[in-house]
Amino acid sequence: MSATSEIETKPVTQAPKTDLLAGKTGLIFGVANDRSYATHIAESLAHHGARCAFTHLPGDKNERRTRKAVEKLGIEGAWMRPCDASSDEELDRVFDEYAGEHDRLDFVIHSIAFADREWLAPGKFTETPRQAYLGAIDISAYTFAAMANRARPLMEKSGGGSILAMSYYGAEKVVPGYNVMGVAKAALECTGRYLASELGEGGIRVNTISGGPLRTLASSAVGGIDSMLEEMPKHAPLRRNIEGSEVGGTAVFLVSDLSSGVTGENIFVDAGINIIGA
Ligand SMILES: NC(=O)c1ccc[n+]([C@@H]2O[C@H](COP(=O)([O-])OP(=O)(O)OC[C@H]3O[C@@H](n4cnc5c(N)ncnc54)[C@H](O)[C@@H]3O)[C@@H](O)[C@H]2O)c1
Repeated sequence: MSATSEIETKPVTQAPKTDLLAGKTGLIFGVANDRSYATHIAESLAHHGARCAFTHLPGDKNERRTRKAVEKLGIEGAWMRPCDASSDEELDRVFDEYAGEHDRLDFVIHSIAFADREWLAPGKFTETPRQAYLGAIDISAYTFAAMANRARPLMEKSGGGSILAMSYYGAEKVVPGYNVMGVAKAALECTGRYLASELGEGGIRVNTISGGPLRTLASSAVGGIDSMLEEMPKHAPLRRNIEGSEVGGTAVFLVSDLSSGVTGENIFVDAGINIIGA
């Protein structure tokens, strides 16, 4: 098939419900609305029997949006707390309250990122101010370690667990305009490897998923999402864009015991675009 073929392969449909994750309970950071990668992950985890708890950015409006997205998945009465992950106190409070009301923690999903959009444009990386650079690394990468540290005691008590974060190819290669977020994703993936090496003894696995472009609030801030979605079907081996449910499916695998030997990995779920040279 030529690189410019217009034939598109069809994405897989949602797998039948299973009880693969029955008895597993965990915490999901990053549901902003029904388009969020975290929402697709929650849908897939719940579909396979997991019980999901959630956080949202502080504020009534944010809570309403997150609750609406979660209820749309058919998850009623979900445990939900506000959390600005840039605050150690708020992270402490969420994990303490979770531990006070749940007797186990099997998974944590880190699907959050932030960078000041002013610096997410082609040609702007060199000028990135210190605060914008450090802020992006703080919220998009440091929080992965901060969450893992707080998850550790309850996960070890539960006999182990699985911690996941969402990354992107801009961690490895220069993607125009991704800029400081690429630096943050490189830090995120590396953080995952160091966490995996320290937490493995307690049965905790740590992995990242490098997702393909998906139209969300965060990807709109980066810009260029329209042209990425247009180019993917021309160049990606699967000749199409990625579905959120496909990242969800990989999250199911990584949370489940099927991946018991997998830790410290970064798994691409991007229709294969990362293997293609220019
Ligand atoms: N959409 C894509 O194309 C794409 C591709 C690869 C990876 N990702 C990654 O997926 C993850 C989720 O992004 P998304 O695309 O679903 O967009 P999104 O806007 O739906 O999600 C981003 C989330 O980050 C949260 N967040 C931002 N600052 C926060 C803070 N201080 N404390 C707590 N939460 C905070 C937001 O509330 C939101 O829920 C991000 O890590 C993103 O980089 C996205």
